[in-house]
Amino acid sequence: MRVGVLTGGGDCPGLNAVIRAVVRKGVQEYGHDFIGFRDGWRGPLEGRSVPLDIPAVRGILPRGGTVLGSSRTNPLKEEDGVRRIKDTLARLRVDALVTIGGEDTLGVAARLSDEFQVPCVGVPKTIDNDLSATDYTFGFDTAVGIATEAIDRLHTTAESHMRVLVVEVMGRHAGWIALHSGLAGGANVILIPEQRFDIEQVCAWVASRFRSSYAPIVVVAEGAMPRDGDVVLKDGSLDSFGHVRLSGVGEWLAKEIERRTGNEARTTVLGHVQRGGTPSAFDRWLATRFGLHAVDAVHEGDFGTMVALRGTDIVRVPIAEATARLKTVDPALYAEAGVFFG
Ligand code: F6P
Repeated sequence: MRVGVLTGGGDCPGLNAVIRAVVRKGVQEYGHDFIGFRDGWRGPLEGRSVPLDIPAVRGILPRGGTVLGSSRTNPLKEEDGVRRIKDTLARLRVDALVTIGGEDTLGVAARLSDEFQVPCVGVPKTIDNDLSATDYTFGFDTAVGIATEAIDRLHTTAESHMRVLVVEVMGRHAGWIALHSGLAGGANVILIPEQRFDIEQVCAWVASRFRSSYAPIVVVAEGAMPRDGDVVLKDGSLDSFGHVRLSGVGEWLAKEIERRTGNEARTTVLGHVQRGGTPSAFDRWLATRFGLHAVDAVHEGDFGTMVALRGTDIVRVPIAEATARLKTVDPALYAEAGVFFG
């Protein structure tokens, strides 16, 4: 069997660990051979591929990013996209695809599998951890570690100057990174996209923290929104899945807090630092296990499925089901953190 592998969407620490595990097990245990497609769906769309054998995956386990490249190309929006993908697979004699991605990349894999008979197995990735059907996605643990370290560092500089420090983390629709890093880093305010915030309340928490002679740290997810406002956009651009670019809520908050409380405030936007660099041990472990189980699914011809973590087990679920809705932070879980606010 010849198997194509691609990584799509925003990159994420652990992608290379999946690629390595897929190829190692697929070659060693099943005798399959592999081909890597460049830059997500753009690879099969434009016929751009690279050889993928055991020597090609040596040494990539701890490397961040993806050796295959990534893009947010949506082949279903391209003229003749499905036919072009099918032509590439036929020309290169590819029997199946391992698609490693988030809701967009996997959403395409679900449709290609279910409606167009392109045999795909999915592997979930996103630092945002917002894919339903899996307890965790790899990349999330690394991102939370980076954000937590940043918050630790910001505490000491905030206290030296008795300033408010606002930390903006990623999280377009879900506040998982904000919630986990905020709790781990001892933030005094955590703001997530799932619950609109009241700026007056945020200022009250800030003031209360100053009264205890410590400086406040406010962690905000990029998709968080004030009660009477909208998400803050970086610019007006849209990607090919129709997503706007976010970022700016941190700056907005710092200005509002300064204006309303008279306390000096600064913002740190962690941005792509959260996605770069070496994966944590947990993410390497999870990504490796996802890769091993994905190649089993390919070998068994169980297409249209995605591997997922349930407790400590790796299970298979229909990709379409996993991409049908996002996994967002439950209000009760968010409420737990409230004891530390202010
Ligand atoms: O992969 C999801 C994500 O991390 C979001 O939290 C964020 O909005 C987006 O990626 C930004 O990615 P890019 O700058 O690559 O478009």
